[in-house]
Amino acid sequence: MINIIKQSDSISPRSNSVASGRFITVEGGEGAGKTTQIAFMRDALQRRGLPVVLTREPGGTALGEEIRTLLLSHHHEGMALTTETLLMFAARAEHLERVIRPVLAAGHWVLCDRFTDATYAYQGGGRGLSLEQIATLENWVQGDLRPDLTLLLDVPVEIGLERAARRSTADRFEREEKAFFERVRATYLQRAQQHPDRYRRVDAARPIAQVQAEVELLLAEWLERR
Ligand code: TMP
Repeated sequence: MINIIKQSDSISPRSNSVASGRFITVEGGEGAGKTTQIAFMRDALQRRGLPVVLTREPGGTALGEEIRTLLLSHHHEGMALTTETLLMFAARAEHLERVIRPVLAAGHWVLCDRFTDATYAYQGGGRGLSLEQIATLENWVQGDLRPDLTLLLDVPVEIGLERAARRSTADRFEREEKAFFERVRATYLQRAQQHPDRYRRVDAARPIAQVQAEVELLLAEWLERR
């Protein structure tokens, strides 16, 4: 589902276009239904004739996917928080350089499964890293690049964890206790309140079809305004 762009791939600018790409991110706790909704969003954008690259974090490049494996693997239980955070940003730096910036510069759209809001929620809220330190890395690695739209799929922790447990074996993050995910969720909700211009919160506890209908509506409204 996710495109891993190889370094040899070239992204050519659209003819006669002034770069008009937009950067959309999708966030949420475990079991929020991101994978389903993000595929739906890609289709919705493509139906409107918008060229979109679907990608993810940590990951999205060959090197980023290797870093992802390190981050999610149980061989690295007890990884230092600084190491974990720097690896997230190392993968992000690569992703920005090889995929996100070139795609946007070519006037295409980027639809990304998680981005820096996840670092605020997981390493900041979840693990207790200071938000100022994350902001320092964010400014260093991203300059002034921020998502244009962030969709937060919000689901109560118990429901999300139950869904995630049915889906697959737990990775290093999914093995955390419930209180960790409560802090992650609270941080996402707080950020959504702090950035109402960019964030849209969707109640993702409902059946998929209802969530999808709301996502479609939000996207249509947002596209209308841009
Ligand atoms: P996924 O479940 O969306 O595939 O993401 C993998 C895990 O990585 C998820 O548990 C959240 C975590 N994560 C962070 O802790 N910090 C980050 O900055 C990102 C992008 C993901």
